[in-house]
Amino acid sequence: MAYAVVQHLGSACLFSGGSSLAEGRLRVRRAAVSCVKTEEQKKVKLGSSDLEVTKLGIGAWSWGDTSYWNNFEWDDRKLKAAKGAFDKSIDCGITFFDTAEVYGSRASFGAISSETLLGRFIKERKQKNPDVEVAVATKFAALPWRLGRQSVLSALKDSLSRLELSSVELYQLHWPGIWGNEGYIDGLGDAVEQGLVKAVGVSNYSEKRLRQAYEQLKKRGIPLASNQVNYSLIYRAPEENGVKAACDELGITLIAYSPIAQGVLTGKYTPENPPTGPRGRIYTPEFLTKLQPLIKRIKEMGESYSKTPTQVVLNWLICQDNVVPIPGAKNAEQAEEFGGALGWSLTKEEADELRALALEIKPVIGFPVEKL
Ligand SMILES: NC(=O)c1ccc[n+]([C@@H]2O[C@H](COP(=O)([O-])OP(=O)(O)OC[C@H]3O[C@@H](n4cnc5c(N)ncnc54)[C@H](OP(=O)(O)O)[C@@H]3O)[C@@H](O)[C@H]2O)c1
Repeated sequence: MAYAVVQHLGSACLFSGGSSLAEGRLRVRRAAVSCVKTEEQKKVKLGSSDLEVTKLGIGAWSWGDTSYWNNFEWDDRKLKAAKGAFDKSIDCGITFFDTAEVYGSRASFGAISSETLLGRFIKERKQKNPDVEVAVATKFAALPWRLGRQSVLSALKDSLSRLELSSVELYQLHWPGIWGNEGYIDGLGDAVEQGLVKAVGVSNYSEKRLRQAYEQLKKRGIPLASNQVNYSLIYRAPEENGVKAACDELGITLIAYSPIAQGVLTGKYTPENPPTGPRGRIYTPEFLTKLQPLIKRIKEMGESYSKTPTQVVLNWLICQDNVVPIPGAKNAEQAEEFGGALGWSLTKEEADELRALALEIKPVIGFPVEKL
């Protein structure tokens, strides 16, 4: 079992003769962080579709982005790091990538869209390794001036052109339309029938909208594969608003975005060292102060498995069943750490204890489109 291998590596490093305690600790962390490929390669079906994806995917929102991430700047160093994240994910057996037509930048100088980058990374990797199989998920932006099923097909074709692919594995409606969703759902069905996508999903859909989308597609014999929503140990709205229960009942996979609370659940941000940029407005020193008892317990639990806090909180999501987390990786180290979230499991008691501790903390405000 992967966990045993990692633990073994951990203890071997700890007790190797002649090295200092600091070196030993560093090697234990390397062993904990690294991924064990065989376990990660196991895949899960996305809802009742035929599409199989890795149990954890990689979010590509930050790739090329200059509006929320990257201190509003994109350069060659960040590009190399993003490519490192892609390649390391594949090396670890993680082959599911989530992007969107609105991720990354198109207008500003030197910036580039996330879809373009992902397409480029796939192409370069395939030149070296033609057999590599990558599952791409992208999303349609339900902008108020986009009406009807045709707008979905035309946006999808633009995405395919940026990705330089003839089809994608998963196409999702990024958020509900303000004028209604029937046309968009018809467009998803058309995309499946035209062979442009293998499976379709929604994102930021409430329980009511989810059930409507499911029924509408069912009439055409097309399963609604997934609902991508904000879900983490400290943002458990899907458990409280009926979305998780409806996903489980209807056989729709819940894809969890911001699963490590935009880096905050890794433990690296503290009241003295809060995140900079837009994240700093959400995860304030006051919030981070209230978070510390939970982070402390996550760390302790991780230590007993030779796992990092990041791996513990991702494992917690996987323990909820029918959940595929898609943490965002900016570089190879972050991607490799995600790989180590797989192949072992918290006990039910431990998962429940973390939820109980998290209940003490008032959640931050989510993405407003969830309320549309
Ligand atoms: N459908 C939607 O509306 C929606 C909304 C949001 C996100 N998403 C999707 O979900 C994906 C993930 O969500 P997210 O990017 O918002 O948040 P996230 O995955 O919770 O956090 C990602 C951030 O955490 C930090 N981080 C990552 N790995 C780390 C590690 N091992 N150790 C320490 N810090 C680490 C990085 O930022 P720093 O290094 O700068 O701290 C990274 O950018 C996105 O990429 C996107 O694909 C979808």
